Amino acid sequence: MVATHKIPFLDLRKQYHQLKDEVLKVTEEVFESNAFSGGPYVATFERAFADYCGTSHAMGVNNGTTALQLAMLALGVGPGDEVIIPANTFIATAWGASHVGATPVFVDCDPNTWEIDASKIAERITERTKVIAGVHLYGQPFDIAAVQAVAEQHNLRFIEDAAQAHGARYNGTRVGGFGEMACFSFYPGKNLGAYGEAGGITTNHRPYYDHVLSLRNHGSQTRYYHDEIGYNMRMDGLQGAILSIKLRYIDQWNARRQAIAARYQQEITNPGVRMQQQPGFAESVYHLFVVTVENRADFLRYLEENNIVAGLHYPVPCHLQKAYESLGYHKGDFPQAEYLAEHCVSLPMFAELTDEEVNQVIDVINRY
Ligand SMILES: Cc1ncc(COP(=O)(O)O)c(C=O)c1O
Repeated sequence: MVATHKIPFLDLRKQYHQLKDEVLKVTEEVFESNAFSGGPYVATFERAFADYCGTSHAMGVNNGTTALQLAMLALGVGPGDEVIIPANTFIATAWGASHVGATPVFVDCDPNTWEIDASKIAERITERTKVIAGVHLYGQPFDIAAVQAVAEQHNLRFIEDAAQAHGARYNGTRVGGFGEMACFSFYPGKNLGAYGEAGGITTNHRPYYDHVLSLRNHGSQTRYYHDEIGYNMRMDGLQGAILSIKLRYIDQWNARRQAIAARYQQEITNPGVRMQQQPGFAESVYHLFVVTVENRADFLRYLEENNIVAGLHYPVPCHLQKAYESLGYHKGDFPQAEYLAEHCVSLPMFAELTDEEVNQVIDVINRY
């Protein structure tokens, strides 16, 4: 059967309708109290998010990309330094390094988990390497122990790009406290999404916390006294207030994503469809449900004809982006990341997908 209606890749309206009364009420409160930038609503969210991640501190900022930039600054990364980054990630992981004047150095991903391949990191390390940025890609924790071991061996710091992985667990513990810092995005489409731009950093280290608070606020701890060159990267009060509401639902939404993912994993039996392998240490929150197929153009055409909207995450690996042409990478440098870029397809995945819609996605794919 052709899906009876178009099954969207993501539909944020359904969630908004569920939360509308709470969201509009708190919006009024924020506006009435004039707490527009930073302030008590952000502080309340920061405390709740730190508790949720099991970390000592959380800092709200204006988006996930600046979270990465601030983490690099707090680690003292700057011009001349190198940061190890998986080639298969959203480009913003690399911006974190570039925006502080450092050079992203890419590594290939594992052929089965599609995450940073820890066994390939050592060969990319030079005397300029400062940091390894691992990415919990598509909501699934990467092999933290393996990355941490390389970092320790070479006296490097490592951070988590957790932009896609709010609530995901590594060996039973939520991500966010494994690296020196973890960077989150609250972009609207994320598992925990604001109603506008927002991001955050979690850490168990007080000095990073103090430094990021200063950097995000014009390099200032006391108003009109500026200890260093800083930035305006504060979180909006409204986003803090809305995120506090949504944080109360995140586990429920993640559980629903996991249930949908389990059905895709068990019931999509088409042998031409490959899925991300999930090692025992990883409990994914399925920000995205990515599969690979040999003939992607044909598969995408088929899905479209059958009313299923798919995504591509991501069609060009970081090392082959035009923005990084000057770094001198070539096609063939990272075969796994390149394979994924050419063959990946993201299936509809969000908590409000109905069972009937999930049935239809499964049925359509099995008939391909
Ligand atoms: C892996 C990853 N890192 C960083 C970011 C950047 O976050 P933002 O869009 O909030 O700047 C995103 C999301 O867009 C992401 O998916």
